[in-house]
Amino acid sequence: MSEGKIRVLVAEEVRYFLQYVEVPPDIEIEWLPASASVPAGDYRGLLPLLSRRIDARVLERLPALKVVANYAVGYDNIDLDALRDRGVALSNTPDVLTEATADLTWSLILTVSRRLIEAAELARHGEWAWHPTLLLGVELGGRTLGLLGAGRIGQAVGRRAVPFGMEVVYWDQRAQPEFEREVGARRIASLDEILASSDIVSIHVQLSEETAGLIGRNELARMKEGAILINTARGGIVDEDALCEALESGALRGAGLDVYEDEPRIRECLKKLAHVVLLPHIGSATEETRRRMFELAWENLMRGVRGEPLLTPVQGNNE
Ligand code: DGY
Repeated sequence: MSEGKIRVLVAEEVRYFLQYVEVPPDIEIEWLPASASVPAGDYRGLLPLLSRRIDARVLERLPALKVVANYAVGYDNIDLDALRDRGVALSNTPDVLTEATADLTWSLILTVSRRLIEAAELARHGEWAWHPTLLLGVELGGRTLGLLGAGRIGQAVGRRAVPFGMEVVYWDQRAQPEFEREVGARRIASLDEILASSDIVSIHVQLSEETAGLIGRNELARMKEGAILINTARGGIVDEDALCEALESGALRGAGLDVYEDEPRIRECLKKLAHVVLLPHIGSATEETRRRMFELAWENLMRGVRGEPLLTPVQGNNE
C-alpha cells in the first residue's frame, strides 16, 4: 500500500472503462474479480457488479468503507439495512441505461410476438418453403401493453408502444400524469386487472421484499389466454416454476426473459421451450451505456470516498 493514498476496490470486469475517467493521484485501485471474495482492508470505496452480494459479513471486512457505488440501477444485491447501520453511502446508475434497457425490452417483445428465434433457426438450419401459415406471429397494433412499474424504464418502454399503435396501461403505486398525457397511458390500480387486460405484460419494478415472487401461479393464471410475458427487470420477481407450467400448458403464447431467479443458471424447462426467448442479462449492454454507467459509478465513488454528496444516491440510505 502506498502511504497516504485512498484505496478503492473496483470490479475487475469494468477495468476496460477506466480509460474514460481520470484517476486522481491520491487514489489507489485494487481490482476485484467476480470470482474472488472481498478482501479485508482499509478500502474507503467499493464499486461492485450487481452479481456481488454486499451484506454485514462483507462490511465487517471493510472497516474504513464510506461508499458503495453499485454498477447497476438495481440494488437488490445490497443489504440496505447493513449499509445504513454502518453509515456507508450507496449509489446506483439510474437514467444512463434507461433507453438501452427499453430498446432491449422491445427487442424481446418483437422477437417473441413474431417468433424470430424460431424463424432464424429454420432459415439457417432447416428446410423451408414459403407457406401462408409458416411461423405465424401476432400483430401489436390494437393490442394492450401492460407495464408493471412505470418508473424511468417502464415509461421509456411505454413511449415506444405509441408508434406500434398499442394501448398502454400501467400498474404503479404512483400515478404518472405526464406519462399518461404523453402516451395516452391509463393507470390500473389492481394487479389482477392489469394482468387480465394486457396482451403483453412487461415487468419494470425493482426486486424487493414486496416484489419477490410477485408473478406467481395465481397471477399467471389471471393473464389473458395467449398473452406474452416480458421480464428485463429481475428474475426473482417471477416464479419460474409457475412460468414454465404456464408456458408448457400453452396458456401463455410466449415469454421474453433477460433475467433469472438464480443467475447465471437458467432452468432447463425454459431452455426447452421454443416460444421462450432467453437472453443473458444484457438489458443495458451497449458500449455507450456501459461506459456511461461506469463514468457515473466512478464519479459517485470518488465523491463518496471524500464524503461529498453523491450524484445519484439511493434514496433513504444516505440521509
Ligand atoms: C441494472 O443496472 O440493474 C441492470 O440490470 C444492468 O443491466
